[in-house]
Amino acid sequence: MSRSTALRTLTSQVQALDIKFTTQSFGEDGQPFALPTQPMHPEKLIKATPVTVKNCKSAANDSKFRVLFSAVDNTHTTPPAVVKAMHDEFELELDVCATKQTAVCKHYYSPEVDGLAQEWTGVCWMNPPYGKELIRWMEKAYLSAQHNGATVICLVPARTDTKWWHDYALKADEIRFIKGRLKFGHPNSKGNAAPFPSAIVIFRPQ
Ligand SMILES: C[S@@+](CC[C@H](N)C(=O)[O-])C[C@H]1O[C@@H](n2cnc3c(N)ncnc32)[C@H](O)[C@@H]1O
Repeated sequence: MSRSTALRTLTSQVQALDIKFTTQSFGEDGQPFALPTQPMHPEKLIKATPVTVKNCKSAANDSKFRVLFSAVDNTHTTPPAVVKAMHDEFELELDVCATKQTAVCKHYYSPEVDGLAQEWTGVCWMNPPYGKELIRWMEKAYLSAQHNGATVICLVPARTDTKWWHDYALKADEIRFIKGRLKFGHPNSKGNAAPFPSAIVIFRPQ
């Protein structure tokens, strides 16, 4: 679909949405007033406004929010049940981003050797650091499958509005959307349910 067709489709969908929420009023004579130009939204939509986290700085230091405030901490660990399921299905060989403490495979790349600077081969597991470098991990996963014969299984937040999702996740061979929220672990604290949905994105050798 061309960009302009996509835009037209989107615009008409938005207009359809506005019309749906527009209310009609009648005067004393029983005649309808002109439709309001501004759409009026039902109360329940207004109530659905997301909760605002106040004082983000101190919340970011709370271990409960570590996964939410991705720039603060990137050491969230994959839930053991997911690790087992992935090992059972794919026989994972290489954890491309981990520490000795968090690696889910015998072979792993740590920040000291920089997983992004290494060659990815075989069946790789990737639960990447979040934040703005996530796109580089997705690019490497995609390219390793395209040119290096690697299979890369990625556990990522299902952020379907991001550039990295559109540039790389959508080129994957398979995407599995996880029902419910994962409870990621953390080396220094108990895990908490993530405040976002997750997906398994699979790149296979081309
Ligand atoms: C989200 S955790 C995943 C840990 C583990 N692999 C797992 O699946 O549970 C991301 C890990 O990547 C590591 N990391 C960050 N930058 C890295 C880099 N450049 N190369 C390799 N590992 C890195 C972090 O230390 C952290 O342990």
